[in-house]
Amino acid sequence: MTNRMVRVGILGVGSYVPEKVLTNKDLEAMVDTSDQWITTRTGIKERRIAAVNEAASDLGVKAGVKALKDAAVAPEEIDLIIVATSTPDMYFPSTACIIQDRLNCVNAGAFDLAAGCTGFLYALVVAEQFVRTGSARYVLVIGSEVLSRILNWEDRTTCVLFGDGAGAVVMGPVPGEGGVLASYLASEGSGAHLLTLPCSGSRVPFGAEAPVNHRAFISMQGKEVFKFAVRVMEEATEKVLAKAGLDKEDIHLVVPHQANIRIIEHYSKKMNLPMERIMTNVDKYGNTSAASVPLALEEALQQGRIKSGDNVLLIGFGAGLTWGAAVIKWV
Ligand code: UT7
Repeated sequence: MTNRMVRVGILGVGSYVPEKVLTNKDLEAMVDTSDQWITTRTGIKERRIAAVNEAASDLGVKAGVKALKDAAVAPEEIDLIIVATSTPDMYFPSTACIIQDRLNCVNAGAFDLAAGCTGFLYALVVAEQFVRTGSARYVLVIGSEVLSRILNWEDRTTCVLFGDGAGAVVMGPVPGEGGVLASYLASEGSGAHLLTLPCSGSRVPFGAEAPVNHRAFISMQGKEVFKFAVRVMEEATEKVLAKAGLDKEDIHLVVPHQANIRIIEHYSKKMNLPMERIMTNVDKYGNTSAASVPLALEEALQQGRIKSGDNVLLIGFGAGLTWGAAVIKWV
């Protein structure tokens, strides 16, 4: 039965990034690029790269353990695990099931969710519905990516942009008027071709023997995706604020998807929101796709940039094309 009285919030946050740091200088030795180009065009200085024995589930488990601890929720209390990823350990079983076992979440359902870099936002909104309706009490939402495995390390237009990492949150009921105030999800499949992982499924299957142009590497029309990102960040903000009945002045901190500092600066200017009210850490991690929003959220919390009662605006955008936003009153 629907219980509209249940408010749903984030009870705990955790993240994990692999130890290995790959700097722009390191990339200079790998492809025809420069620290100066990468810094000025993207704001990225370095990114993390998973070890050979680390897959999405390994990163996700580490982030999940921290989020459970932070929320003071026991593994067996988790009713559902949703893992947002574009780089699952394998097609099946789902990475969520592998994590369910490793975390001993013996009472949880588990599934993966694919919405590109918007995956975490989509998963958070799905989790919110489960808790709000009473179908679940605690949901573990994880964004985990090992994008280094699907990069063509000879393609300077993509390999400098992405990195590996994981972020997790525990969602559950919160008292009072806090928690998710409004959310908004959107898609535009007509732009699907702008950001793809070709040769990775039933259209053109994987093939280890395939020539390089038939391998599963990220393919992106950067300029088009840039224009899309700028457009939808603004649109998502307006839509979700209207749903929440808030004005942008009511937002204490924006935590956007970390793809390119220029996209965020553009947004800041367009929305007349000073950069001090927008969380950025793209310089340290690059674009970690579904992991980027929870990674930035955890860092914002560690820096004391979010207090109880603050309205936090999360924004995602990416392959699909997909985009979305959520406003959360922090408890
Ligand atoms: O998370 C999913 C969403 N993804 C995004 O939001 C990414 C959105 N797109 C972007 O962030 C930007 O479009 C990029 C960072 C991908 C590219 O920046 P840009 O300012 O749009 O550069 P461009 O593609 O127009 O390339 C400009 C020049 C080109 O050379 P010419 O044709 O002007 O001679 C590129 O070949 O820069 C060259 N270039 C590079 N040079 C050095 C492209 N990549 C590199 C590189 N190092 N790594």
